[in-house]
Amino acid sequence: MNYLFNEIIDRKDGLGLKWNHLEQAFGSEEILPMWVADMDYANPQPIIDSLKKVLDGRILGYTAPPESLYNAIIHWQKERHQMELSKDSILFSPGVVPSIALIIQALTNEQDAILIHDPVYTPFSNMITLNKRRLVRSPLLIENNQFKMNFKDIEKKIIEEKVKLFILCNPQNPGGRVWSKKELTTLAELCKKHGVLIISDEIHGDLIFSPHQFTSLVTLDPSYQDFVLTLSAATKTFNIAGVKLSMIYIQNPKLYEQVSYYQECIEHSGLNTFGYVATETAFSKCEPWLKELMINLSDNLETITTCFDTELPNVSYMKPEGTYLFWFDCSSLRLTDEELMEHFVRVGKIALNSGAAYGPGGSQYLRLNFAAPKELVEEGLKRIKLAFEN
Ligand SMILES: Cc1ncc(COP(=O)(O)O)c(C=O)c1O
Repeated sequence: MNYLFNEIIDRKDGLGLKWNHLEQAFGSEEILPMWVADMDYANPQPIIDSLKKVLDGRILGYTAPPESLYNAIIHWQKERHQMELSKDSILFSPGVVPSIALIIQALTNEQDAILIHDPVYTPFSNMITLNKRRLVRSPLLIENNQFKMNFKDIEKKIIEEKVKLFILCNPQNPGGRVWSKKELTTLAELCKKHGVLIISDEIHGDLIFSPHQFTSLVTLDPSYQDFVLTLSAATKTFNIAGVKLSMIYIQNPKLYEQVSYYQECIEHSGLNTFGYVATETAFSKCEPWLKELMINLSDNLETITTCFDTELPNVSYMKPEGTYLFWFDCSSLRLTDEELMEHFVRVGKIALNSGAAYGPGGSQYLRLNFAAPKELVEEGLKRIKLAFEN
């Protein structure tokens, strides 16, 4: 095990949301933060070094994305995900969520129906409703403690609600499913048949537990390039969410034009220097770090599932196939969603994400972020047990 992943870094003096926003979010500072999806691990050293080099230049002026950044992205997507990209299919954005908002505005109209799974990453629904589009949810099924898509329901909703856009989360947050080729193909074929565009949010696509294999939706068939827009970033994988840079891959030139025109309207052509530099370094120099990270996350996951299986045998959970998120069922406590959060804060002294925030289907669940040194994960487990036992 790499010692770097065991170091406990004091984040309390920094600006980080996860450790310094507890009072506002949970009403208490004396709790262990295992909520917001960033990691308590130091960034890869090459990223720190590349950012220091920028500072050593002593002038932080405007920056354009360098050719070498495009090359690093194209190489990463081809080698790891068999995705064929050219420079003119890549747009930059300050984040995946801003990209979702941008695409909604560029490619749909007010009151258009947009379909998402339930439960799913909270900002999907927020971006739809804030932009005055119609939110339609397709509940995920649970089989053998894993989420499954309900294709009958998806097609029914597409037809009845005249859905224009589907927003997919692959791998799935909060359940950690890495959708199979078959599931993805079935979904894409349904959308193709009914003329529905797809945004595929693949921000967790490099955080996959063996033997599961991630497939980028658009690579499954050349025809999918016509209607699939892929969102990706180095931020989740390499723990650099604060540098605020993500990518939009659009291989259909007409859709690319429409989205890039919208970006021009809000002047998103020049973004953050640190984002460009950190992303290029991540994709060109940090693959060895990612390998170590996955060993560490697998080990944490093993610790968690062993603890639940032996000490909380009546609590069901979804074993994630990707991501660093652990989704577990608290219905045995017989509390409302609000009481559940209050109980884990007061008794467990731990900050987790409320499942209800992910949609009605997330009710009674909590989400644990286990990207932290083992010692913190073990402390978190003690606190979760305390909450279940009291
Ligand atoms: C599925 C998913 N998409 C997007 C994001 C956030 O992306 P960004 O910070 O680039 O807006 C997250 C963060 O947790 C996420 O889980």
